[in-house]
Amino acid sequence: MIDTKGKVYIVGGGPGDPELLTLKAKRIIETADLVIFADSLVPPEIVAFAKEGAQVIGSKELNLDEIMELELSAVREGKIVARVQSGDPSIYGAILEQMRVLKQEGIEFEIIPGVSAAFAAAAVLKSELTVPEKAQTVIMTRMEGRVAMPQGEQLKDLAAHGCTMVIFLSITRMTKVVRELIASGGYTEDTPVAVVYRVGWPDELVIRGTLKDISDKVRAAKITLQALIIVGDAVDPEQTITGAVSHLYSSEYTHRYRKGDAVVSGTQASGNGQG
Ligand SMILES: C[S@@+](CC[C@H](N)C(=O)[O-])C[C@H]1O[C@@H](n2cnc3c(N)ncnc32)[C@H](O)[C@@H]1O
Repeated sequence: MIDTKGKVYIVGGGPGDPELLTLKAKRIIETADLVIFADSLVPPEIVAFAKEGAQVIGSKELNLDEIMELELSAVREGKIVARVQSGDPSIYGAILEQMRVLKQEGIEFEIIPGVSAAFAAAAVLKSELTVPEKAQTVIMTRMEGRVAMPQGEQLKDLAAHGCTMVIFLSITRMTKVVRELIASGGYTEDTPVAVVYRVGWPDELVIRGTLKDISDKVRAAKITLQALIIVGDAVDPEQTITGAVSHLYSSEYTHRYRKGDAVVSGTQASGNGQG
């Protein structure tokens, strides 16, 4: 239920495709009296669900004080506010500073998760980010820029793991990204990589390559914003043809919910049946 008294909803608006909004996000946008959306990354189609008479404001030219002032005065008038962020608000969503003000002011708020561009990109690439025997870990990170990276989180430190990496906010530094990824020894020039530009938007673009040629391909495509870099075997199209797969649905595999037919060294091959 959506409260009738004033409240702020921090809403995950998904990557851009309105059909990737959750039902809950859509319902809150439809109900809100004030919708403030990150119009640098969230298309107008997402907030077109706002009711007639609702105030709909883009936030890209506003600073935090201005945004919070709008939110606070609406809530004090008993209004519902939907603060619509791109993807999922928990990933580079800059929501901590908003939550701090809301807490200080004693204002009730709730976060509605959304489909991160990371998962929308994996879907477009037809990738499983966790590849049996090759990558069972996904690192979501960014290249150091104006925002300093904490110790141990430099791209080359993280790349040393050689697992799947999803790199946000870094497309303008592609050459440096590649250099750091290879410097770690975790990846080679032949490691598959994909760049997904504006996933879920009408002009979505996918560029596939290896760490050797991806920078040139990105430069040729003139991509300078709103793109993700996904690195590792997970984005190798070969994965959908050959290689190890999960045991989970194997007829041999016994787990809590199903008895398999394999006998391994006198015992049944078994697991807990959770994906
Ligand atoms: C401030 S972060 C927000 C991420 C967002 N919270 C999420 O979960 O997707 C913005 C960065 O996310 C990535 N991004 C956001 N939307 C995207 C999209 N539709 N397609 C590709 N990358 C996107 C880009 O790397 C962009 O620079």
